[in-house]
Amino acid sequence: MLASLERYSDSVFRTLCYNHGAELTFTEMAHVNSFLNRNRGSLQKIKPKDSTPVQIQILSSNEGKLDRFLSGFKPFDGFMGFNLNLSCPSKDVIRQGKGAALVKRATKTGKLVALIRNHGHPVSVKIRLGLNQYEKDNKLYLNNLGGVDPDFFVVHAKHAGQSSGEPEDDSVYPECVETARGIPVIANGGIDSPEKVQSLMEMGVSGVMMGRPAMGNPAIFDLIKNEMGLNDPPRPVPRAADLGQEYKDLFDSIGGDEKYKFRFLKVVGRKRAIY
Ligand SMILES: Cc1cc2nc3c(=O)[nH]c(=O)nc-3n(C[C@H](O)[C@H](O)[C@H](O)COP(=O)(O)O)c2cc1C
Repeated sequence: MLASLERYSDSVFRTLCYNHGAELTFTEMAHVNSFLNRNRGSLQKIKPKDSTPVQIQILSSNEGKLDRFLSGFKPFDGFMGFNLNLSCPSKDVIRQGKGAALVKRATKTGKLVALIRNHGHPVSVKIRLGLNQYEKDNKLYLNNLGGVDPDFFVVHAKHAGQSSGEPEDDSVYPECVETARGIPVIANGGIDSPEKVQSLMEMGVSGVMMGRPAMGNPAIFDLIKNEMGLNDPPRPVPRAADLGQEYKDLFDSIGGDEKYKFRFLKVVGRKRAIY
């Protein structure tokens, strides 16, 4: 899966990754409030240019507002459901009781998940290991994994107080998988090699999500799947350096935003994109 990447994962980038092996993609995060306020930038994020499979990532902590938004929402070709963000570490977002602030509030998360499902949409949850070391040590994230019923969880194996350069704690995955009661757990964070994917699969995760590695090389999905024998027959993998031209061709054919193109062309082909 291709991770939500604010300011990067527009329709063009998502399709590029999909064409090179990502099986599901996610929009950048957006506040439900911003949809209700008809914010143009936010509405643009959920207006795809083609039918690449995508989940819309939302920040919400208010059932009333979410219900109002869902009542007016019309699915489109490629729409695969909503992804509830319980992972954003931004202080602003946390102050509003959204993103990683929801990790400890399994009952609230359960209500939001049920509401989305009652509107007839698939729903997943992307979660961190809590707001801080205290929440992580007390394993508050397990309340969500054990008590909420989305179609799948994505676990970003860090707490919200950790910087992007710090390593993930992959040792949490076996307990996450066990606690999730058969609901698939997707691993996220610092995954960029077949060996890493293999070791996570051995811990019981059902799949992986990649963000920064895909910014540097959008074909990393097929690259890893080929090496693990998951593509039969193996699929052609262009050099990362050639993917800039592929992005430009897609941009010309489906249309995009110059700012996203500019940012993408600055990071593609670089080994470690940005942090
Ligand atoms: C530029 C950038 C933007 C991001 N935007 C979002 C976002 O909108 N929503 C979200 O859930 N995570 C966001 N993240 C976090 C990623 O989705 C992902 O969880 C994180 O980068 C770890 O995965 P990786 O090591 O494969 O990059 C962002 C990360 C980066 C680097």
